[in-house]
Amino acid sequence: MRDKQDYYYWKAKKEGYRSRAAYKLLQMNRTFKLIKEGDIVLDLGATPGGWSQVAVELGAEVVAVDLNPMPPLEHVVFIKGDITSQQTLQKIREVSETYDVVISDASPKITGKWTLDHLRSVDLARASFRIAREVLKSGGNFVVKIFQGEEIQGYFNEVKPYFRFKKFHSPKASRKRSAEIYFIGKRFRRV
Ligand SMILES: C[S@@+](CC[C@H](N)C(=O)[O-])C[C@H]1O[C@@H](n2cnc3c(N)ncnc32)[C@H](O)[C@@H]1O
Repeated sequence: MRDKQDYYYWKAKKEGYRSRAAYKLLQMNRTFKLIKEGDIVLDLGATPGGWSQVAVELGAEVVAVDLNPMPPLEHVVFIKGDITSQQTLQKIREVSETYDVVISDASPKITGKWTLDHLRSVDLARASFRIAREVLKSGGNFVVKIFQGEEIQGYFNEVKPYFRFKKFHSPKASRKRSAEIYFIGKRFRRV
């Protein structure tokens, strides 16, 4: 059940964001300068749209992808699709061949079984990077959520050669008891 005492839940309601997750992207963007005016941003696992709202406020044009529908937003093209499927990559490319920034907050349905949730989240983080590797402009930025567990170092090793700056980060707006952490990769290079 949603924590009604949650500070960011109420802040999001008051400030018109569709999710408390919006504050995670706002905080990460403040620290790492990921999105700038004029960028084309690909938002994976985007519904209900908090991250897309933040990217638009920062001056970006957004392509948002999710399994579930998302209510329309100005400056956002929505694709209903599965980020693990090749067909979705094709649709993403039909809207724009390249992107300045790829952000992914995609989450599996939580079962409460730590290892299973971790492994499913790693699959989604891998799918997000497969897409990013195809469409990111040289010098572009990448953010992806991943639930912590034994595969996390392996994931880091897979993606780190592609970025000049790379680290894991936990924004203040992440719940304290949450297993989630974000990989931040800046200045993409093809290897
Ligand atoms: C935590 S929510 C994203 C919240 C969003 N960042 C926001 O600020 O509103 C995670 C989303 O990942 C989506 N998702 C999970 N697996 C997916 C997949 N294989 N393809 C596309 N979306 C997926 C879910 O449908 C869900 O909407």
